[in-house]
Amino acid sequence: MGAWISDTTPERIAARLQDLAPAGAARGWVGAWAQETGAARVRDVFAQAFDDVTADLRVWSAPGRVNLIGEHTDYNDGLCLPIALPHRTYVALRPRSDSLVRLTSAQAPGEVWEARLEDVAPGAVSGWGAYVAGVAWALREELGREVTGFDAAVDSCVPFGAGLSSSAALESSVAVALDDVGGLGLGGSDAGRAALATACVRAENEIAGAPTGGMDQSVALRARSGHALLLDCRRGLDPAESAEQVPFDLETAGLAVLVMDTRAEHQLVDGQYAQRRDTCEAAAHALGTESLRELADAVEASDDPTGTLTVALDKLPEDVARRRVRHVVTEIGRVRDLVALLRDGRVGEIGPLMNASHASLRDDYEVSSVELDVAVEAARVAGALGARMTGGGFGGSAIALVAADRAEAVADSVRAAFEREGFGAPGFLLAVPSEPAGAVD
Ligand code: GLA
Repeated sequence: MGAWISDTTPERIAARLQDLAPAGAARGWVGAWAQETGAARVRDVFAQAFDDVTADLRVWSAPGRVNLIGEHTDYNDGLCLPIALPHRTYVALRPRSDSLVRLTSAQAPGEVWEARLEDVAPGAVSGWGAYVAGVAWALREELGREVTGFDAAVDSCVPFGAGLSSSAALESSVAVALDDVGGLGLGGSDAGRAALATACVRAENEIAGAPTGGMDQSVALRARSGHALLLDCRRGLDPAESAEQVPFDLETAGLAVLVMDTRAEHQLVDGQYAQRRDTCEAAAHALGTESLRELADAVEASDDPTGTLTVALDKLPEDVARRRVRHVVTEIGRVRDLVALLRDGRVGEIGPLMNASHASLRDDYEVSSVELDVAVEAARVAGALGARMTGGGFGGSAIALVAADRAEAVADSVRAAFEREGFGAPGFLLAVPSEPAGAVD
């Protein structure tokens, strides 16, 4: 039981985890790199693939995320409350004078992905380069901003396929890089960053082909250290109204958010996510509303919330649709309740809302998995104040709110439960609310 993970600033955690990397890694702890470390690594990757490193090569980075609450609400015009992780994706990028995009990554050393910007279009590019080239495409399509080609190298300490938004971190790091080198002037304001987030979502939806909502890209670009980001995902909202910084002070309360990566498969490009989205849209249509958010607001405003929800659910013939809608509406309510607790300085009391969110995602929305349920249960048994799956689900990660000095013990309990169940070893991270995407050097 080391005291090393009770440090709760990103810099101290990064430093401590690096000191203890071998011991920590053997127990599944995934440390966050210090920004200089990430920058040095990605410059090396660049130098190996494109040996002519010049002075105009610069580095940007963007964080992965966990969502505290508000799951599968973003594409229903709802509310969610993510935080940026100290774990980041780094991109070393240099503009070119032609339209060629050449990419390399530490994960596939020596391989170079290439495309010409004029060839990037929905359905025309594939592989991880689609997330990068897609951003350049979307800056033109969405914002009418032209960018030139570029050479870029990528490295990341955001675990892949863990439901921690490594793809949004990649898109967002490229978005701030292209914004800077193209002089687009968007990264300097929250409204500009909201526009970059919209472009990143289009890259993910239309070029990479994953029908996700906007939560991940928004938090990667608009987060603030020490805060959770309350996102209002109603379409057409002015950027100033669509995001609010909510202080999330774990350190003073002696608490930590432990991320438990099940290391079980998580794949959003498959049909399940899209199916949930379609069911919600069809249900909203059947109820005569534009989105389920309208119903959530009506329930919230009603003197008899349960009655109002029941009347709406009774209009839906399918049990599955009724359960999906119930999840979305009650989850939006839980975001409101959790934010009220945070604003009241009662962070230690948010656990029951996290637990209720997990039950709703497991039973009504049916996006949990055996591994996620086991992680959540084992965390609670070891004293977590609350625990829930986070992100899209079907594998990926869960989070637990724990006393900072119990994080190791809770991780031990989860590790033991996984061993008992015959699952592979899980991974662990600490979710300290961190900085948004930006330039490193
Ligand atoms: C994934 C998507 C997000 C959001 C979550 C579920 O992370 O990328 O847009 O829908 O699932 O809350």
